[in-house]
Amino acid sequence: MIVNEGAAQIELPSEPVKKGPGTRTVGFYNPSQRLNRDLTLSFLAAKRPEKFLDAFGASGIRGIRVDREAGISTVMSEINPASYRIALNNIERNSARVEIFNESFEKTIERHLFDFIDIDPYGSIIPYIDKAITGVRNRGFVGATATDLSSLTGSVRAKTKRRYDAYIKTDMFKHEMGIRLLISYIAKRAAVLDMAATPEISFWHSHFYRVIFRVEHGAAKADNTLEQIGTLNKHKLLSNTYEDADEGPVWKGKLSNPDTVKSMADEKLVHSSPKSESYLNYLENEDTSVLFLELSDIARNVRSNMPPMEAVAQHLADMGVKSHRTHYSFSGLKVEDSLMTAYDNISKLMTEKYR
Ligand SMILES: C[S@@+](CC[C@H](N)C(=O)[O-])C[C@H]1O[C@@H](n2cnc3c(N)ncnc32)[C@H](O)[C@@H]1O
Repeated sequence: MIVNEGAAQIELPSEPVKKGPGTRTVGFYNPSQRLNRDLTLSFLAAKRPEKFLDAFGASGIRGIRVDREAGISTVMSEINPASYRIALNNIERNSARVEIFNESFEKTIERHLFDFIDIDPYGSIIPYIDKAITGVRNRGFVGATATDLSSLTGSVRAKTKRRYDAYIKTDMFKHEMGIRLLISYIAKRAAVLDMAATPEISFWHSHFYRVIFRVEHGAAKADNTLEQIGTLNKHKLLSNTYEDADEGPVWKGKLSNPDTVKSMADEKLVHSSPKSESYLNYLENEDTSVLFLELSDIARNVRSNMPPMEAVAQHLADMGVKSHRTHYSFSGLKVEDSLMTAYDNISKLMTEKYR
């Protein structure tokens, strides 16, 4: 089977060879991760790191695109021999200048100094993150893709506790909380190594979370990141209609670096899909507030119908309060004001006009 994505064309086994449970296939290629790869390319175009490691090669699509579209010196590691052969074939097919090794990335990071290490394992990043943090140059970047969303969103409570030592409520905020939990975990792992990991961009899509961090050496910098980790209580932050419970610990700082998002938006990438570009608009506004107004919760609470999102945004604007849509919920609004006050105003609007 031939697949075209961005400037790459790859060949995959027509009958995917299953390797264990789920979607673990030889030469694994997931089209729903295109957004992840597109935004990584956009980040690379904006930041121009010198040496990139595609640590989990699989079909080779990511590293091939980095070479073909960003022209950045790229190395790839792939531990599975059958997947390695598929990736190698694809590198040759695309005449890509990618150096590939059939070994674990833990071994490959001993060969070069990297400015960007991209880890994209099946499931959790936990077994790999320390190596990625220590393998990257000072002020370099680690891109981490996590697909263990059941742990990060608290839907399997014991697993969230065991893996991340945290409590997350599985409600309409679970994906923003899940990403904040992932960031806090990585920041803490960096801190124990006297390093600071700070998110440059972060987003959720479908079955995965993606965060690109800048890693900086220094105990004082590490301490600064730890100060941005703590619990969140929706009862105190949003409205007393929510349960009075401390969730986390999670990252309470910025989810993205606004300068980075802006320079990514300025890069006009010929190979990005329209969906990937629309995501950048969301990312510009995700740090307007920690969490957001969840209109479906407010409507349920005051027993009203769901008003159009535009009507609520207009109502807030009439009161001089700016709001923005969030990619964490179709019915969520990030608000440039106290969320408590905005919650009360919207409750009143719904009670008076939409019951
Ligand atoms: C989820 S896939 C990667 C998908 C790919 N990055 C993409 O964008 O399409 C994970 C791949 O990493 C490989 N792998 C697992 N552990 C590894 C390790 N420690 N070092 C290098 N490769 C590894 C697996 O064999 C598998 O092919």
